[in-house]
This record gives sequence, C-alpha cells and structure tokens, in this order.
Amino acid sequence: MALHKSMFDEFGLGTIWVRRAPQPDEPAALAEPVTPDRSTAIPLNRAAAAELARTASSVPGHESTDALSALDAVLSAAQKNQGVVREAPMARSEPPESPTFDDIPWLDDIPAEARTEPETIDETANDIASLDWDVLAGRVSVCERCKLCERRTNAVFGVGDRDADWMLIGEAPGENEDKLGEPFVGQAGKLLDSMLHSVALSREDNVFIANVIKCRPPGNRNPEVDEVARCEPYLKRQVALVKPKLIVALGRFAAQSLLKTEASIASLRGRVHDYEGVPVIVTYHPAYLLRSLPDKAKAWADLCLAQATYRESLKVADGA
Ligand code: URA
Repeated sequence: MALHKSMFDEFGLGTIWVRRAPQPDEPAALAEPVTPDRSTAIPLNRAAAAELARTASSVPGHESTDALSALDAVLSAAQKNQGVVREAPMARSEPPESPTFDDIPWLDDIPAEARTEPETIDETANDIASLDWDVLAGRVSVCERCKLCERRTNAVFGVGDRDADWMLIGEAPGENEDKLGEPFVGQAGKLLDSMLHSVALSREDNVFIANVIKCRPPGNRNPEVDEVARCEPYLKRQVALVKPKLIVALGRFAAQSLLKTEASIASLRGRVHDYEGVPVIVTYHPAYLLRSLPDKAKAWADLCLAQATYRESLKVADGA
C-alpha cells in the first residue's frame, strides 16, 4: 500500500518531512523532500487502518496489529526506503487493552477541544480565505477536511453567476447532486428553479447557489457539527467572492448553520438576519415544500420579503 499524506494527517502527523543533505554520490533529485501525490491520495478510514496493519505485519520484525504500532512500523520502513527523517518521535499514549480497530477514537470522533492538531485545520481555513474562484473550486473538489470525502462521488461546489446579487444556500448534496456535482438537481431543484423564475431569477443568469456542506452525507443523514465546521471556510470564501446583496437560507439546517443558532425555522422566518454583513432571509427547504404544499404560500411570502430586502439594500448602496 502506498503511503499517503492524508494518512499521516489523519493520525496527527502532518508536516513532518524535512530535507536531508544530499549524499556525496547521489543524484540531487533523490534528496528532495517527499511530496505526497494528492491525485492518488486516499483518506484513512477503518479499512485503510486494517490495510495499514497488514502492511505493518509485512515489515520484518513487526507483528503488532495495534494501529499506532502499525503506523510506527510503516513510518520507520518508509523513512528507511524514502530516506526521510522524522523530526520528533510520534506522540502516543498507551493503547487500550486489546484494542480492535473500532475501539480506536478516529479524528472525527474526538471532541474538538481534545484534538491534538487544531492549528492544522485553522491554518488551512486561513489559507482558504484568500483563494480565488478557480483555486477554491479545485480545493473543494479534492477536499479531505472531513470524513465525508470518503464516500462522495463529486464534491458539489456551487453553480450560477459568480457576480450574482442573490445567493441561495442549501444544506448538503443529495444523491443526484453527488452524482452530477451540481446543487439542487433533483425534484427539489426543479421546484427551486420554478420559485426563482417566478421572481425573474435563475441559476443560469443572476443567482449563485451553494450548500453549507459540499459533500453528500451518507444516506442523506444530517451533517455533523464537525463536518459543518470544517466545510465552513469554503462557504465563507464563496460569500466573500460573490459579494451578494442578499442571501436566502433554504431550510432549517442552512439557516441554523449560517446564523449559528438552534432557533426553529418558524421563529427565523419573516425577519432579516445577517451573515458576514449580508442580509439573510430564511425560508423553507424546497424538498420540504414538495411534501408540504400549504407552506408554499409561506415560502412565497418569504420570497417577497427577500425581494423587498434586496431592493432596500440597493437603495442603501445607492445612498438613497
Ligand atoms: N438539498 C440541498 O440542501 N442541497 C442540494 O444541493 C440538494 C438538496
């Protein structure tokens, strides 16, 4: 099994490669630091850990099936093979008695405050805040900041006019979106497009549509707090780049995530909120409206409030 940066990162061992001095009779290229190949990078999951242990057991003199020991063995073998030096010994605690791989606390299971390398996440988040559109889209397409990357077909970046005045924000891709890499392409998307057309808006023309979460949660389960936190820098950057005059949050989850509240959608509707200085209107998720036709009237009222808020923001921008 090839050794990948994502695997080391997952174990809290990121950024450990150092350049060594070239050996006298060695071509210079061999002394370059090892650069992991992202195009083939895989995230480390339980299956990968099992593979890691199998790989370790093939390292001469190492029979352990404990994941940390396994990682140590594979790292040592890799260092010998690749001629790299790890700066410091791996920090580790005593393994639990007779651990199985399911007993090992995976990064996403560990409470945020207990994680050993929060700086890594924050550093990446700072970096995301300065990306341009194309680099941002590229980053999202290969993102491994949370475990949702393991099962996605496509990350769903967003679609529409990158200079739009209106930005619509949904929850997370579903099955169809995951397949096609575009937000709101199923029945809910059709309804959303009709609603937009009714107020002279469209994703082809003057709206940008994105989701809070860029990768499909398995089985369309609710995204977890940690997944939202890791994905947030992408949405923040999208909002900063689009510079919309209005955001419409589609559904409870999008509204609660954007506004950092647990308030009900009923209490959030009908008022103007704020996200990063942009007015936000909350309305029902189109998938909900497909099941609850009476609430379509309320969604229409929300769109009217959105239009009024938008016009108001234009007046403010004109200094009227
Ligand atoms: N629901 C969402 O919130 N977003 C999509 O892209 C599709 C369905």
